[in-house]
Amino acid sequence: RPLCLGVGGGGLTLALVVIGGSAVELQGNAYNGLLIAINPQVPEDEKIIPNIKEMITEASFYLFNATKRRVYFSNITILIPATWKTNNYGKPKQESYEKADVIVAAPYWKHGNDPYTLQYGECGEKGTYIHFTPKFLLKDRLIDIYGSRGRVFVHEWAHLRWGVFDEYDSERPFYISGQNQVKATRCSSDLTGIYVCEEKICAQGNCVINHVTGLFKEGCKFIHDKSQNASSSIMYMPSLSSVVEFCDASNHNTEAPNLQNKMCSYKSTWDTIMSSADFKSNFPMIGTSLPPPPIFSLLQSQDRVICLVLDVSSIALLGNTCRIGKTYIYAKS
Ligand SMILES: *[C@@H]1O[C@H](CO)[C@@H](O)[C@H](O)[C@H]1NC(C)=O
Ligand SMILES: *[C@@H]1O[C@H](CO)[C@@H](O)[C@H](O)[C@H]1NC(C)=O
Ligand SMILES: *[C@@H]1O[C@H](CO)[C@@H](O)[C@H](O)[C@H]1NC(C)=O
Repeated sequence: RPLCLGVGGGGLTLALVVIGGSAVELQGNAYNGLLIAINPQVPEDEKIIPNIKEMITEASFYLFNATKRRVYFSNITILIPATWKTNNYGKPKQESYEKADVIVAAPYWKHGNDPYTLQYGECGEKGTYIHFTPKFLLKDRLIDIYGSRGRVFVHEWAHLRWGVFDEYDSERPFYISGQNQVKATRCSSDLTGIYVCEEKICAQGNCVINHVTGLFKEGCKFIHDKSQNASSSIMYMPSLSSVVEFCDASNHNTEAPNLQNKMCSYKSTWDTIMSSADFKSNFPMIGTSLPPPPIFSLLQSQDRVICLVLDVSSIALLGNTCRIGKTYIYAKS
């Protein structure tokens, strides 16, 4: 009689070797095929999917404006894990968690709830994926820290898609400018703010120069003015409401000791973006109308059930070989 063995959920992992990266294609001005996948370990929360949709929709318009009407997000796939309740979602075809451009998963220790993009390449090379934690997507109080989720998404997308780098640097927050002044590492340098020091560390809360380094002593911070006129840059601080553009040749801060300058030989983020393959033969959308909002398809992974049907009557073990009917399978004990 047939014997059926079922292995479901995390019981069996099939290692898929993924060759080649993202399936996102730029068709005209529209990015198609962006895949966002939720890790099976993420507890089900009914707000995650609507919040992802809201984030991408906001990101699409912000990106469209920041790229001067060149690109926006069109159709997006969200892959829901088998561990969540079923709801007549479509079935994945090629889509899998391993191939996702964006993952929603528990924090990776080093980053906590900070969104980040795995980016090991050189200037202009694509990254591997963007990681958001469930808390980042769910806790609205984190918007005060990171800025709106759509703006954060565009910052991460620029890392992932165009291989540009951060214009802040928490290890080198200050530098000495050509005019021999201590300045905050930032782009653009038109962003205004004040230098303050924690009372505990500095007397009267004033930033003090360390005469060895020529820079401010520890404890000093650059606090941005809430109201700004500077429109750049998205790779520096998209949370500032005035920031709607990338730093370009006209306002790029070449003196800042940040990764963008280091990795891209002092080229601005906008110039780096414009030399990517996406913009080789892409033209801004004409007119003044906005692009359509993104369309989302929801797919749900299936429990992987492997059914082994054995006709026990014709099974024989011959040394290291298992014979099932006329099929011989090498058996390793
Ligand atoms: C779009 O970008 C322009 C600068 O290129 C800026 O002046 C404008 O405020 C932006 N609009 C929105 C809605 O972000
Ligand atoms: C996504 O939209 C484009 C048109 O912008 C279309 O050509 C493509 O087939 C769509 N893909 C899916 C999976 O719906
Ligand atoms: C922004 O521009 C306005 C008008 O030009 C000016 O009054 C204001 O002081 C500027 N704000 C900052 C922070 O530079």
